[in-house]
Amino acid sequence: MNFFNVYPLMDIELVKGEGCWVYDSDGQKYLDLYGGHAVISVGHTHPLYVQRIRDQLDKISFYSNSVINRLQLELAEKLGKLSGYDDYQLFLCNSGAEATENALKIASFQNEKSKFIAFSRGFHGRTSRAVAVTDSPKYRAPADAVHNVAFFELGDLEGVEKSLQNDDVCAVIIEGIQGLGGIYEPSAEFLMGLRSLTEKYGAFLILDEIQSGYGRSGKFFAHQYVPGLRPDVITIAKGMGNGFPIGGILIRPDIEGWFGMSGTTFGGNHLACAAGIAVLDIMENENLLQNVTDVGNYFIQKLKEIGEAKEVRGKGLMIGIEFDHPIAEMRKKILREHHIFTGVASNPNVLRLLPPLTLSVEEADLFVKSLKEVIGQMKSPGVSV
Ligand SMILES: Cc1ncc(COP(=O)(O)O)c(C=O)c1O
Repeated sequence: MNFFNVYPLMDIELVKGEGCWVYDSDGQKYLDLYGGHAVISVGHTHPLYVQRIRDQLDKISFYSNSVINRLQLELAEKLGKLSGYDDYQLFLCNSGAEATENALKIASFQNEKSKFIAFSRGFHGRTSRAVAVTDSPKYRAPADAVHNVAFFELGDLEGVEKSLQNDDVCAVIIEGIQGLGGIYEPSAEFLMGLRSLTEKYGAFLILDEIQSGYGRSGKFFAHQYVPGLRPDVITIAKGMGNGFPIGGILIRPDIEGWFGMSGTTFGGNHLACAAGIAVLDIMENENLLQNVTDVGNYFIQKLKEIGEAKEVRGKGLMIGIEFDHPIAEMRKKILREHHIFTGVASNPNVLRLLPPLTLSVEEADLFVKSLKEVIGQMKSPGVSV
């Protein structure tokens, strides 16, 4: 059977991972500054993570959401404590898109409205409602066109308010820091403005922290750089399971669920919870938020000092390096000649870095050195960029 051809593959087979490093089938070692789309949070094959999943496999790996699962309670308690949202409610699912779907759906159940506001360059997933609030028409099939969505530029509070005035907007959805779009941060004023406008007009404010959350920015959630900002719903996935598929939404305390309002077969299963608990324990034990802040600040400063990029953006270990030309060739050289994985963005001039949260200063230095060399080579006469 052939695979449905939707992924352009690199000619590399990875067979092993350890910390911030991965190894291919020829034994070649690579520095992983991409974490497979921001997924690897506590590092590849962290011993505690592996042990917890192994132990859980020996006990019970799955049962449905029709019985008590204490691991879910443990996960919720730890997540509440570490994130500062212990008064919120947790719904568990399996992926980012599913988290987006549930967030939008619960908002709509609650306020009985159906229009959404989203932002230019935003990405929220590929299922129907999630892709409808994603600013990328090419991902939308005709059947996804049934949703009513208005897009605005980040910062356009006036436009958002005009739309909200019609009183039909269910929710405003925004990423803590835009990831796939190319690492763009909404300003604190804009986020606070959205908070007061959504309150004024009875719409939900949904913070998509699927990529920017779980410590990636140096705070548990990127929106926590804005003091006092409390969204109605927060979506999570990616780093939550360090590669084990798990997602979720944090829901404002006063919203009441009812049986059947949402549900999933696999969401919150025993194995996924074991992975999720291990991630939170490691984050706490190893003080990873501090590591992300320290190494992230250092890394961003060193990248700026290279002096060749148009802009270096981001917070913590969510970094975008924008050049005034496409980065495709540069990225290829970094991979093939320096054996470092990096990421792209929908802005073709942006190189995106999303390493494990355990990255060290030495590993950051290695990339800075490699990037300088590649830039130097590409500036040499006869090499076009
Ligand atoms: C901000 C954001 N939201 C949602 C998603 C969708 O997550 P998933 O691919 O797990 O469905 C992504 C994935 O890249 C994302 O970056």
